[in-house]
Amino acid sequence: MNILILGSGGREHALAWAVLQNPKCDRLVVAPGNAGIAAIADCASFDICDAGAVLAFVEAEAIDFVIIGPEAPLAAGVADRLREAGVLVLGPSQAAAQLEASKAFTKAICDAAGAPTAAYGHFTDAAAAKAYAQAQGAPIVVKADGLAAGKGVIIAETVAEAEAAIDDMFGGAFGGAGAEVVIEEFMQGEEASFFVLCDGVDVLPIGTAQDHKRVGQGDTGPNTGGMGAYSPAPVLTDAIAQRAMDEIIKPTVAEMARRGTPYQGVLYAGLMIEHGAPRLVEYNARFGDPECQVLMMRLGAQALDLMHATAEARLNTAQVNWAADHAMTVVMAANGYPGSYAKGAKIDGLDALASDSDHMVFHAGTALKDGAITASGGRVLNVTGRGDTLAQAAERAYGMVDQVDFPGGFFRNDIGWRALN
Ligand code: AMP
Ligand code: GLY
Repeated sequence: MNILILGSGGREHALAWAVLQNPKCDRLVVAPGNAGIAAIADCASFDICDAGAVLAFVEAEAIDFVIIGPEAPLAAGVADRLREAGVLVLGPSQAAAQLEASKAFTKAICDAAGAPTAAYGHFTDAAAAKAYAQAQGAPIVVKADGLAAGKGVIIAETVAEAEAAIDDMFGGAFGGAGAEVVIEEFMQGEEASFFVLCDGVDVLPIGTAQDHKRVGQGDTGPNTGGMGAYSPAPVLTDAIAQRAMDEIIKPTVAEMARRGTPYQGVLYAGLMIEHGAPRLVEYNARFGDPECQVLMMRLGAQALDLMHATAEARLNTAQVNWAADHAMTVVMAANGYPGSYAKGAKIDGLDALASDSDHMVFHAGTALKDGAITASGGRVLNVTGRGDTLAQAAERAYGMVDQVDFPGGFFRNDIGWRALN
């Protein structure tokens, strides 16, 4: 099989690494890729949100299967165009990707499916939104409806903060994404991520994870794309995962099919767990980054078979061969991230690190400059360990972090603290 992966982050490096272990992969191309990906696969350069450009590349290079990493090409309809042309693809249609692209859409689906989630109101003008926030009281959560690169959610501790957030959103702080606003009940509990593959009808769980969104030790400071992750997430016990399947995910997938927009691809459910009951925080229409890195580390070569079965609508006969393993990834980021940061800092020490099924450094924002690996993004490296216990996975990941010479970077040294305590 000739395979094309779209994307350029640590998520796509991990996908490429897993796919290459499967003998069914004859050739792998990643577009646009990064310096770490370029060391293991061919990289190509074209606009991955331009469906015509993607299809032209697929036809010219005889690609059999396309795996879409990030949300932007999904929201741009790239999966639709490929499917119309008869190309196998992992990733939902533009209509189904609304589960990530519109918070109001997801709330309406939850209502129709009876899926437990926060109580909410949906508004198109500031006065009505403020009246709702005043009536509900604080804390309360104000969300821009559309894609806002993870920044469109404000947890307001006071009604005044909620009103300011409402003014910002309707005032255009998030562009078109904030033209509509969802206001939600603040949910208590512990968050965890649940990943499933869906082929439109059937659903297969492929792992749980917990991400660390805050930049600082002890989960403090501003939100980021994620500073580290581990899998499995012990808070998502088998019993709670089963409830999430039965009460949230399967009813959602059934409702999407009923509407004529079946969901095919990775569905990532962000859950809030309180007193043993899961509620939906949000859906994403793709793998999480950095959660994908720990999932791929655990799934290895079978990840390709599972993704291929999804694209061919064969999940009813697919199964995951689980090992009793754990994985952890630690993000090394450029100083200043998630604010402004410098690019171009040199990174040394990577060549000396072990690279095997228990030790991997996935590259996120890196570039090759005069033969040296340099930082080219906010999140730069995802240092990933696997082991029989989470403590062993952590020891392996942090053992590698200590050997990386990246003076322009920082990392959190408490990834996994909830599960390790
Ligand atoms: P979202 O983009 O919807 O995942 O929101 C980003 C983060 O905000 C989530 O991961 C949660 O930590 C938090 N959050 C969002 N909605 C709620 C809610 N209704 N109650 C509590 N926390 C929330
Ligand atoms: N790590 C969170 C996300 O990928 O959305």
